[in-house]
Amino acid sequence: MRQIPFGKPIIGQEEKNAVLDVLNGTTLVHGPKAKQFEKDFAAYTKAPYAVSVASCTAGLHLAYFYLDIGPGDEVIVPSETHVATAHAVELCGAKPVFVDACEKTGNIDVSLIEKKVSKKTKAISVVHYLGMPVDMDSVNAIAKAHKLFVVEDCALALGTYYKGIHAGLHGDVGCFSFYPVKHITTAEGGMLITKDQKIAHAIEKQKAFGVDTPVNERKVAGVYDVTILGFNYRMNELEAAMGIEQLKRIDGFLAKRETNYKFLGSRLKELKDIKLLQSSCDGYKSSYYCMSVILNERIAVKREAIMGYLKDKGVGASIYYPRPVPLLTYYRKKYKYERDSFPVASEISYRSIALPVGPHLNEEDMEYIFHTLRSAITEVK
Ligand SMILES: Cc1ncc(COP(=O)(O)O)c(C=O)c1O
Repeated sequence: MRQIPFGKPIIGQEEKNAVLDVLNGTTLVHGPKAKQFEKDFAAYTKAPYAVSVASCTAGLHLAYFYLDIGPGDEVIVPSETHVATAHAVELCGAKPVFVDACEKTGNIDVSLIEKKVSKKTKAISVVHYLGMPVDMDSVNAIAKAHKLFVVEDCALALGTYYKGIHAGLHGDVGCFSFYPVKHITTAEGGMLITKDQKIAHAIEKQKAFGVDTPVNERKVAGVYDVTILGFNYRMNELEAAMGIEQLKRIDGFLAKRETNYKFLGSRLKELKDIKLLQSSCDGYKSSYYCMSVILNERIAVKREAIMGYLKDKGVGASIYYPRPVPLLTYYRKKYKYERDSFPVASEISYRSIALPVGPHLNEEDMEYIFHTLRSAITEVK
């Protein structure tokens, strides 16, 4: 029997050597590796500025903190996403206002955004769901009309392009995640990119306590002032050393994901009881994070049993995401959302199965996943 984990970091000798080099040296934080990783990431995405951070969540939090949003303010948030997208708003004391998903792609339904804009709205956040880019022209048009800041949650979008420009560079800031199952990993870690020097410089300080002079630029060691409020949201040198090596392999990782995705997609067309989300079209380039299979009503009731069958056969499936965020207990209780308020996001959350396509897998694995899912659908009662 095959063992097909949903995600498996590909860590080679280069990453191990790079981490050991850091451990053998004297600088674990505030060193050259984080700076190098930022430079490399900026070059790869063609971002004018890149700021390394402790996680994608930290990056998102910093973006709203920079904006100075707080109690009484609102941010438009997609409902089909990881809770981090909304928590970052909530952590600032502002209110996330959720928008349902688009049936075709699972992305925020852009046609519903403007109805949710109020006098309190300060920003729109979008998630490039499973790597498929959001229609950023439409989002930016709404943002421009209402003078709103745009935050792109790019946790699943390294290698995602909209109209030839990398995700994260269409709005005001974009935040990436390097959690182990992502396109590249630093164990924990993230990167914030922006076209705006002012934002980059402010967030650079806010991620490090608001200290006015970085460690390496102090005339007298230990002497600094603090001019603004800030966090400890830095990326350390071990993580950055890994990130530098991982980024060197990104093109190969992305190509493998795309090949796996397309092969599995072509096989899945044979199955009648499922539908797939749109993963590409003119001007939209996905990063192919995973294959989301949406079960029709007839077999959706068997989803847990189907997933159990897949697990027993060694296929590591998952769900992206387990509930629309406004229906997670914290948000539903706090904001009194009705269970049927997000029908499209609910369909995705309650009926889909996410199948792996990562670079740790090959065509035979895709074939195995397809056959196992097909058997599961027919055999599971
Ligand atoms: C869309 C989205 N945003 C944010 C995050 C959080 O990323 P991190 O773990 O780097 O904070 C995730 C994690 O999976 C995610 O899927």
